[in-house]
Amino acid sequence: MLDRVIAIQKIVDKAPTRNGMWRRIIDSTKVEDIAEVGVWRGAFAAHQLQYSSGIKHYTMIDPWRQLPEWNKPANQDDTFFEDVYAEAMACTDFAKDKRSVIRCTTKEAAPQIAPESLDMVYIDGDHTLRGITIDLMLMYEKLRPGGLLGGDDFVKDVWQHGPDFDPTFVCPYAIYFAEAMNVPIVILPFMQFLILKEPTQGFEVFHLTEGYENLKLNEVMRAPT
Ligand SMILES: C[S@@+](CC[C@H](N)C(=O)[O-])C[C@H]1O[C@@H](n2cnc3c(N)ncnc32)[C@H](O)[C@@H]1O
Repeated sequence: MLDRVIAIQKIVDKAPTRNGMWRRIIDSTKVEDIAEVGVWRGAFAAHQLQYSSGIKHYTMIDPWRQLPEWNKPANQDDTFFEDVYAEAMACTDFAKDKRSVIRCTTKEAAPQIAPESLDMVYIDGDHTLRGITIDLMLMYEKLRPGGLLGGDDFVKDVWQHGPDFDPTFVCPYAIYFAEAMNVPIVILPFMQFLILKEPTQGFEVFHLTEGYENLKLNEVMRAPT
């Protein structure tokens, strides 16, 4: 196993929560410049800004508005999103000198971020097939070599939100993306994934949690009941 993955395994074994696990990964990797795609009420950002003292700059990317093509339960009206935005700002205000806010979709935000400028990106926005494709493709190039591309909702049940909403395709798409980039991907607890921008290592899937081995598309795609 890669040395980096062995180090992450030790962290994962002790982590009690999703936020705590990422905080430890961020600290151990000495992440200074991080972006989060899909910030919502700012809980993840506030946790990392509060407990990861090494973070020097945190870019928050979220349109905080209703989106015509996002068929997910969180896609509420603009009035609702004004409150969500206000909460995200309020809970990260203590770190406003480290915070940049890009109130845009990933596609709108991408031209504003320099290539290879970030140590880590955390993807937690639009998890439909369209959304995760755009997020991984546009944000991977923003990472410096060796950077981390993490994300949420690596769920095996693509019908996470039921038959009335679009399926969630973070799993298995993130694995295919890692294979296409020829880099390692780590499957983590708390339904998280982590792609390492390490092209010299080649593609490999590391399972640090159980249940994702031998994933078959016909199983994850089982029709909703
Ligand atoms: C699940 S919430 C994020 C939760 C947050 N990361 C946390 O852990 O507290 C999803 C967010 O993604 C945002 N979003 C949806 N489509 C997006 C897109 N195309 N680009 C960027 N953000 C998007 C939504 O506005 C929403 O705030």
